Amino acid sequence: MDKSSLIYPLFVREGTNLEEEIPSMPGQYRYTLDRLPYKLEELSNAGVGSVLLFGIPDKKDERGSGAYDDNGIVQKALRVSKERFPELYYITDVCMCEYTSHGHCGLLCGHDVENDSTLELLAKTALSQVQAGADMVAPSDMMDGHTRAIRKLLDENGYKNIPIMSYAVKYASSFYGPFRDAAGSAPSFGDRKSYQMDFHNSREGVKEALLDVEEGADLLIVKPSLAYQDMITRVAERTNIPVAAYSVSGEYAMVKAAAANGWIDEERIMCEMAVGAYRAGAQLYITYFAEELAKCMDEGKIG
Ligand code: PBG
Repeated sequence: MDKSSLIYPLFVREGTNLEEEIPSMPGQYRYTLDRLPYKLEELSNAGVGSVLLFGIPDKKDERGSGAYDDNGIVQKALRVSKERFPELYYITDVCMCEYTSHGHCGLLCGHDVENDSTLELLAKTALSQVQAGADMVAPSDMMDGHTRAIRKLLDENGYKNIPIMSYAVKYASSFYGPFRDAAGSAPSFGDRKSYQMDFHNSREGVKEALLDVEEGADLLIVKPSLAYQDMITRVAERTNIPVAAYSVSGEYAMVKAAAANGWIDEERIMCEMAVGAYRAGAQLYITYFAEELAKCMDEGKIG
């Protein structure tokens, strides 16, 4: 465990002069582009070198066009941030759900999400993010074949060296609730069970991980972290690329809520959760507590 393995998820939104606190995630904010540099500076000073960017567009539509717009919110954020803080490492979330009016992660045909027609848009999204400066892309849509489609388009455009960190093992989980508040991305009907995985099934998780490795993933994400540490271990044992554990919004919200009531020791719980993920086999840890963990590492409380 060291600070270089921490990744901080960061929400960017349109507008000016706003740092909007996310009600279900105390201490986490949606930043407008003019406020973003202050946060990046803070992260850089804390020694958290990597961010995972999520965009909240002003307008959403059926085809999620804000995701692959060269002037989309994430693309603009990348241009601003890379110029001001070139020392940070920028990872982008590749998904449609923050950009679609219906809140699903892909294109709809009736009430079904269409896997194959979505692939083209995901690849376009990844390419436009890389053109805007992303160092790595992280597809979280859970469409089958996403890694291959993105790899192909990036390679064709000369971005052979940009790695893909795929959310290969992402369960249909209630732990994402606060994130959907943050990004306004809850599905307007139905659920995500046709593309995210059934959490009863561990063998399917391994299968998805192996498929993504075959398609060219450079790193894999297991998500959520807390209730899925067995999957971190299984995936780490069955593949030979780095595994990242994503401690998601619901995990953060639970810790914050209990700590606010004085029922738990926030710092100790946070450290124990992180150690659990690394012990299970994660080499990278995506967490809203990145800065606080970096501090604990500096102070020798964990490491
Ligand atoms: C987008 C996406 C989600 C999260 C990361 N990328 C939400 C979802 O799948 O509904 C969740 C992250 C978190 O809860 O912290 N598909």
